[in-house]
Amino acid sequence: MHEAAGFYENEAWTAGIVGLGYIGLPLALAACRSGLDVIGFDIDEAYIERLNDGESVIEDVSDAELRSALASRLELTADAGRLREADAIFICVPSPLGRNREPDLSYIRSAVEVVRRVAHPRMLVSLESTTYPGTTEEIVVPAVLDGRLRLDEDVWVAFSPERVSPGDQLATADIPKLVGGVTEQSTAVAAAAYRRIIASVHPVSSAAVAEMAKLLENTYRAVNIGLANEMSQLAHALGLDIWEVIDAAATKPFGFQPFYPGPGVGGHCIPLDPQFLAWRAREAKFATRFIDLAEEVNLSQPIYTARRVMSLINQQRLPVYGTEVLGVGISYKANIADDRESASLEVLHELEAQGAVISVLDPVVGEERIEAHGFTAVSMDGDLSGFAIVVVLTDHDVIDYAAIADAGPIVFDARGAYRRRGIARGNVVAL
Ligand SMILES: NC(=O)c1ccc[n+]([C@@H]2O[C@H](COP(=O)([O-])OP(=O)(O)OC[C@H]3O[C@@H](n4cnc5c(N)ncnc54)[C@H](O)[C@@H]3O)[C@@H](O)[C@H]2O)c1
Repeated sequence: MHEAAGFYENEAWTAGIVGLGYIGLPLALAACRSGLDVIGFDIDEAYIERLNDGESVIEDVSDAELRSALASRLELTADAGRLREADAIFICVPSPLGRNREPDLSYIRSAVEVVRRVAHPRMLVSLESTTYPGTTEEIVVPAVLDGRLRLDEDVWVAFSPERVSPGDQLATADIPKLVGGVTEQSTAVAAAAYRRIIASVHPVSSAAVAEMAKLLENTYRAVNIGLANEMSQLAHALGLDIWEVIDAAATKPFGFQPFYPGPGVGGHCIPLDPQFLAWRAREAKFATRFIDLAEEVNLSQPIYTARRVMSLINQQRLPVYGTEVLGVGISYKANIADDRESASLEVLHELEAQGAVISVLDPVVGEERIEAHGFTAVSMDGDLSGFAIVVVLTDHDVIDYAAIADAGPIVFDARGAYRRRGIARGNVVAL
């Protein structure tokens, strides 16, 4: 084993984390749990203060765990200079799309600039932010070397995608980690470092392979969700229940993995990641037809969902204009409070644009965020009988679906929430 790999596998070393959001904070805590000292850096000073007060806003990290880590191995700071003490730096900053759905690498570039200033001999740098194949090689390596450090002699650089799914049961340390270095030695050193934190590490031959593997995983999901969404539209046209069709197909013990339709795709991964690949493909003059088709179907699904709701309002001989609609669930997926890039919100905004009066029930996202979107917040104890229709857009487990249907109005279930919970009511219409 290379001496540096031995160091990261066996010695006490300090991990530096750049960006402490949904990905960085759980990674910092996982590193603490495995006995490493951790310096977490974030540019948002107010956020750092909040974290240092022991208040976690990330569902997967409890206040109690944050506080106990802060009392022992974890230091959180807005002072980038503290990262000089780190032996390995993990970059976990956002990588959104720009206005024209092109990769916006500005956060990665600014994080890499931070690393450039603190890089020193015997340092491993691993990029975790999702990005297109070639980013680590083209952007991270030159900045880290900065004309003064040598690859494999002084520093090692790798890409290791984050695969965590917020709100799901699998913790960072339990999800197999892909690790691809920009050199063979970088792969070996980075894999050794990750083995200290993550139960299962899968080295690959280059950073670009790891970059593309992450994008393939989420493109696979986007394409299959697109297929499920298109099938839901077809089943409706044929007068069939798509949920029953999928459940029937899923009894096949091989060759079929169920994906389910919904009001559209949301979050910061599934709608975005295929676009990183499509953007890189265009540079290589390669057309990504599956990505484009899935994008077309998935982007149209919120409008399709809103149309189905409007048609149900029409069937009650009501105009959409001025009709009271209750949206249930506005986060992009169940059981989390994150409402960024949420298709559920797109459906409600479309109904609002047609004149419907929107209220929202979402105890997970909470009143403050609901009102920030310009909607009236309603609680489970409120009177639901005045709504012409209830639209289930995100099916949090804490919601009492039977009580909603029993309160009277028609329910349009865009998530299969009733079927999945075995609740049968005559006034529930599924997507
Ligand atoms: N959230 C997910 O479900 C998920 C899953 C897999 C992969 N990812 C990827 O992980 C990366 C991070 O996503 P996230 O959800 O944790 O983002 P986030 O928005 O929750 O957190 C990012 C943090 O980085 C900080 N930051 C921004 N620029 C910085 C800089 N230059 N230096 C230091 N801190 C900086 C921000 O203040 C913020 O606190 C993205 O590339 C994302 O695509 C996210």
